[in-house]
Amino acid sequence: MATAPLTTTPARSTRSRPRPIDFRFRPLRPADLDAVMAMEAECFAPADRFSRRRYRHLLCHALPRGTAWGLLAINGRGDLVGVTLFLLRRGARLARLYSVSVAPAARGRGLASQLITRAARSLRRRGIDRIGLEVRERNTAARSVYERLGFSISQRFEKYYADGETGIRYTRRI
Ligand SMILES: CC(C)(COP(=O)(O)OP(=O)(O)OC[C@H]1O[C@@H](n2cnc3c(N)ncnc32)[C@H](O)[C@@H]1OP(=O)(O)O)[C@@H](O)C(=O)NCCC(=O)NCCS
Repeated sequence: MATAPLTTTPARSTRSRPRPIDFRFRPLRPADLDAVMAMEAECFAPADRFSRRRYRHLLCHALPRGTAWGLLAINGRGDLVGVTLFLLRRGARLARLYSVSVAPAARGRGLASQLITRAARSLRRRGIDRIGLEVRERNTAARSVYERLGFSISQRFEKYYADGETGIRYTRRI
């Protein structure tokens, strides 16, 4: 069945948004490790942060091997304000959206949606046709982004997170 391409245009929301800002986008590189760690500290509660060791592995080993791919958003001052990272498996057509984060000052302008939409376009060129992800049930901001982009719930995992919160799995054909 044909699937509509991912789009950043809100399908249902009629709420007004702040004016969009011009962001630049580029693929994530190993040299971005420090900036990504700073974003991680700014955007996630301590229990939800990935360690530097984990990110070093992802950026310095998985990226060059093609088992991870990511996209950054940079503002007019050259600061990193958004990042998304995907895990890939050789020969697999499903990519896992491992993380997406936007600096608090840049939120609510559609940046997360743009990051995921642009990343999906690049991933499609790499032969990926589906994206999957897990998110905390109570992460309403992230769930709103995924649902607006057309992701649908495929599974629920009780006590998926260490603190007992339910995990929701979303998937989307791209
Ligand atoms: C989730 C996150 C990436 C969204 O970034 P963003 O650039 O603000 O996202 P967008 O502007 O594309 O969309 C924001 C949407 O969430 C909604 N939203 C924002 N905060 C919300 C909240 N607290 N409760 C409910 N909805 C919320 C906005 O209204 C908007 O929805 P709309 O377009 O239907 O109006 C950002 O909040 C973030 O970095 N959070 C911390 C990290 C995180 O939880 N990442 C996801 C799990 S890996």
